[in-house]
Amino acid sequence: MNSGCSIVGLGLHLPRTCVTNAELERIVETSDEWIRTRSGITTRYFAQPDETCSVLAYHAATAALRDAGMSAHELTHIFVGTFSGDYNLPTTACLLQNMLGIAGIPAVDLAAACTGFLYGLESARAFTSLYPEARILVVGSEVTTSRINFEDRTTCVLFGDGAGAAIATGQANPGPIRVLDVMLKADGSVGHLLTVRGGGSACRPVLHESIGPEYFVQMQGREVFKHAVRFMADISSTLIQRNGLRPEDIDLFIPHQANLRIIEAVAKKLGVSMEQFFVNVDRIGNTSAASVPIALTEARAMGRIQPGMKVLLTAFGGGFTWGAALLQF
Ligand SMILES: CC(C)(COP(=O)(O)OP(=O)(O)OC[C@H]1O[C@@H](n2cnc3c(N)ncnc32)[C@H](O)[C@@H]1OP(=O)(O)O)[C@@H](O)C(=O)NCCC(=O)NCCS
Repeated sequence: MNSGCSIVGLGLHLPRTCVTNAELERIVETSDEWIRTRSGITTRYFAQPDETCSVLAYHAATAALRDAGMSAHELTHIFVGTFSGDYNLPTTACLLQNMLGIAGIPAVDLAAACTGFLYGLESARAFTSLYPEARILVVGSEVTTSRINFEDRTTCVLFGDGAGAAIATGQANPGPIRVLDVMLKADGSVGHLLTVRGGGSACRPVLHESIGPEYFVQMQGREVFKHAVRFMADISSTLIQRNGLRPEDIDLFIPHQANLRIIEAVAKKLGVSMEQFFVNVDRIGNTSAASVPIALTEARAMGRIQPGMKVLLTAFGGGFTWGAALLQF
């Protein structure tokens, strides 16, 4: 285990346009009541065309740099978790690097869907053990609405757009939030339950007419729900035990914000009260890879996290991928 990695800055950015359930009622056959009772969501943010994935990432990154009191020129690496990048090429990480004006440093996208930020954080932890001087920008940024079928009421009410960012440093520049431990998992055998196939090289030919439902998120909601609960609860519990702790020793759980009922079921499985869980899915919806860093940034800004606290992040997403991270503030 490597405890030489810490977080020195956090930031988030949400698009300008907040969309209520009532507004979605005008697009698909749904109701505020159905959305609230099945998912806990009341609003989410939709990016406008000028608010691309890299633009959202840029604003979250600059907020994190401000929080860290750092200049972009001090960064050594960039990892961006996303499934809805601006393009296939160039990657969103390279677009972001260019916007930050820091050509030269390594920059790469990580495709781990909603677990993208945790894959980025673990990659940062590995890189900081190789390079103790490293200052790594880890971003989760999504324009999920570019990949949502607004004729599919089972998915379009659940997702939103946004970005969250953290700056991770090595032993040479220790910060106030220590990354004590991270655990990642994946299981491709159940990947078909949550897909965005269109635009991939196996979906040839890419003709204008071929843009159909496959181009958008397709999901077997109930199956995804069950896996999300089991995987997030199991990995959280394993990581907690691996660090000699019990669930009640965690001051705040910050889970992927996909659905309030999923979060409640994870809390129940872990045997802890919802008071110990941070929730913003009601206001922000599911922002995929951006969900965990947005929630972490908000939780700290709202005073839910104080120095000395132990915080557990957990996420689950398409692939399937899932993970957890233990932080010490
Ligand atoms: C999608 C989800 C909210 C659906 O909730 P559910 O309780 O499983 O509901 P069901 O899919 O069984 O659908 C129940 C009914 O509501 C209907 N329905 C689905 N979406 C609806 C909507 N937006 N508005 C109104 N009715 C809707 C269905 O058609 C179905 O009707 P029927 O019984 O007449 O067939 C739930 O399965 C879920 O949250 N899954 C996980 C999704 C997720 O978070 N994925 C991302 C993970 S990273």
